[in-house]
Amino acid sequence: MILASEKGFILQTCDTTYIFRTTPYGHLEHIYYGQCLKSPDIEALSHKRTAQAGSTVAYTQDDLNYSLDRIPMEWSGIGKGDYRHSPAEIKMPDGSFVSDFIYQSHEINENTLTIHLNDNNVQLILTYTVYETANVITRRAQLTNNDSRPITIRRLASLMLDMAAKEIYILTTFDGDWTKEAHRHDRPLQYGMFINESRTGASSNKHNPGFLLAEPDAAACRGSVYGFNLIYSGNHMSYIERNSHELVRIGIGISPHCFEWELKQGETFQTPEAVMTYSNQGYNGMSRNFHNFINNHIIPEAWRMKPRPIKYNSWEPCFFKFTESKLVRLARQAKKLGMELFVLDDGWFKGRDNDSAGLGDYEVNKKKFPRGLARFANKIRKIGLDFGIWFEPEMVNPDSDLYRAHPEYAVQGATMGRNQLVLDLTNPDVRDYIVDSVSRIIDETDAAYVKWDMNRHISEFPNGRFFHEYILGLYDVLERIFTPRPHVLLESCSSGGNRFDLGMLRYSPQIWTSDNTDPVCRLEIQGGLSYLYPPSTMGAHVSDAPHQQTLRETPLSTRFNVACYGVLGYEMDLRHLSPVERKEIKSQIEFYKQHRMTFQYGNFKRQDTPKDNKTLWVSQDKNTTIAGLFQGTAKVSEGADTLRIPNLDHTKRYKVKTRPQRLYIKRFGGLVKHIMPIALNPSGLILLLANRYHALIDCVEEYECGGDTLEAGVLLNNQFNGTHYNNKTRLLGDYGSNLYVVTPS
Ligand code: GLA
Repeated sequence: MILASEKGFILQTCDTTYIFRTTPYGHLEHIYYGQCLKSPDIEALSHKRTAQAGSTVAYTQDDLNYSLDRIPMEWSGIGKGDYRHSPAEIKMPDGSFVSDFIYQSHEINENTLTIHLNDNNVQLILTYTVYETANVITRRAQLTNNDSRPITIRRLASLMLDMAAKEIYILTTFDGDWTKEAHRHDRPLQYGMFINESRTGASSNKHNPGFLLAEPDAAACRGSVYGFNLIYSGNHMSYIERNSHELVRIGIGISPHCFEWELKQGETFQTPEAVMTYSNQGYNGMSRNFHNFINNHIIPEAWRMKPRPIKYNSWEPCFFKFTESKLVRLARQAKKLGMELFVLDDGWFKGRDNDSAGLGDYEVNKKKFPRGLARFANKIRKIGLDFGIWFEPEMVNPDSDLYRAHPEYAVQGATMGRNQLVLDLTNPDVRDYIVDSVSRIIDETDAAYVKWDMNRHISEFPNGRFFHEYILGLYDVLERIFTPRPHVLLESCSSGGNRFDLGMLRYSPQIWTSDNTDPVCRLEIQGGLSYLYPPSTMGAHVSDAPHQQTLRETPLSTRFNVACYGVLGYEMDLRHLSPVERKEIKSQIEFYKQHRMTFQYGNFKRQDTPKDNKTLWVSQDKNTTIAGLFQGTAKVSEGADTLRIPNLDHTKRYKVKTRPQRLYIKRFGGLVKHIMPIALNPSGLILLLANRYHALIDCVEEYECGGDTLEAGVLLNNQFNGTHYNNKTRLLGDYGSNLYVVTPS
């Protein structure tokens, strides 16, 4: 709901209130953002201006107390006494950088408020949209030049907001690199300015555009937390500036890095939309708002709240080395285990036997598919799986027919990443080529799923418009391919999570989270991303152990237990599974199918745990809660582990039961001698064979208790400590984990 009166503008969501007003001089003054106020008193909430301060510049000699540097604002210019970082750096018609946008009028259209401001012939429109039930407000800015002289934008934020720093906020960003995306980093917000920026051409795995500001005592389920993000996939910059008057300025938008955009008379520039939310229920409350917003408003309509298929992906088991018959064998195995979608990853097209050739060409590799791709896709469907296919449409290898015919299609430069050049998506001919080629293959193969990859950063670029125009070109291509084909499930990917952002999620309901599928790393990666994005958006696969990047041995149960808090898939060589592993995977998939909606769309929470080697995740919907308790490296003779389940009905009783999982004999090595009547060689044939056909049943715990008891915490059975084994002992060891299913009794 949006209320406008002469006192100010009040934007209400279900649980939050956002207030600003115009000052007597036409600036927009920020008043309040926080928990819902039913009848806010704007005057009481506002910053007072009763004394003139030294070292300030007065905006007008008529009011010496009115210094823009001391006022919390919704937008600010340059050159009028506000020395904080301005949301806009514009070379104005007179050639100066001084700008001062003054309120003219506003409109309210349902849940959208539009404010018109002017600086002479340059018009600025600020748009606020309220998403009541998600507790989200979005903002964007639009600049129009009505002057006969051109203006040049060097920076134009989507959102600027000044908040009073009642306490020292904790600023959280999500940073990383390839295979280590979205690691959470916290720091107290000190004086000066912190910048969270990407300059790689994509939103990047280095710094996700989303970030948080929280009061210092905020925890998983309590305290004030603000969340911010940007609906954009390119270079972004957010700045958070704490000034000497304890005001915190937040700006979010396209990165100004080498950005230069001229507007001639009559031309307009539109920023992407920024998103903000607030919760007084801690980090989980803030995340819940973002998750609801994304699931209900960002994801393409055809896929909103729709179950996502369990996929098998050919990349890690095959890389570039496969034949049609090998893939068919893998697909048959995948079907038998219960999977639903087969994804043919990289290597299917002409010349593509390694990563140095073929990108850009869309002809099938006849050596691998002698009778064509459509026939192979039909075979997969006959097996009973949907067919999905990988593309990397934004790139070209110099060793490709496309590059030989059209070298001008590539962004000109000498630097390469993964042996490839970037196609110039600002060129309409390039966009047409991509749209035609990708659409043709989707239609010919009747693909139900596309994995859209992008595997390098952009380096050289021709001008200051390029980075933004590239992203607009990308959105145009995605729009033209997928809007007419809403049934095709798009999973975007950029060497994993190098472009995990709200802009891509508008087209692709899910994103390949990371090339790193080690569950220990995934706890950090999926855990980090979960602050900003729901589990339904995260592609999560079970892969082989030892793991490809970390060489870590982890239990198959843990690989599943982590992956199931996302969109489940398998990316391993199914031909080498032992009979007992096959049984285990089959039961994992049955379990996931039974609880798929809870995992993909349930209310996901990260719970605080008293021990640093434990992680506790919870997915919860109306009738089911599934808690995952993950152990890092084992400690000897630890105290009891606690299972605390939040948000249950205190008047009801619940059953808690561990998901049954298997314990492999091989894990116990020489220890088996203690339970066997004869001494066996731990690396000998007998134990190897036994390990293929038999596994122990891991400890299953069952409790029945009230919701309040579960919230207080159930103390779990003891862990194995070297002196004892029975089926009531939890044998976690390093990286062990369990899932607990909680249902009403
Ligand atoms: C990227 C992706 C992988 C895989 C390969 C194929 O690295 O992230 O999942 O598709 O490309 O080349």
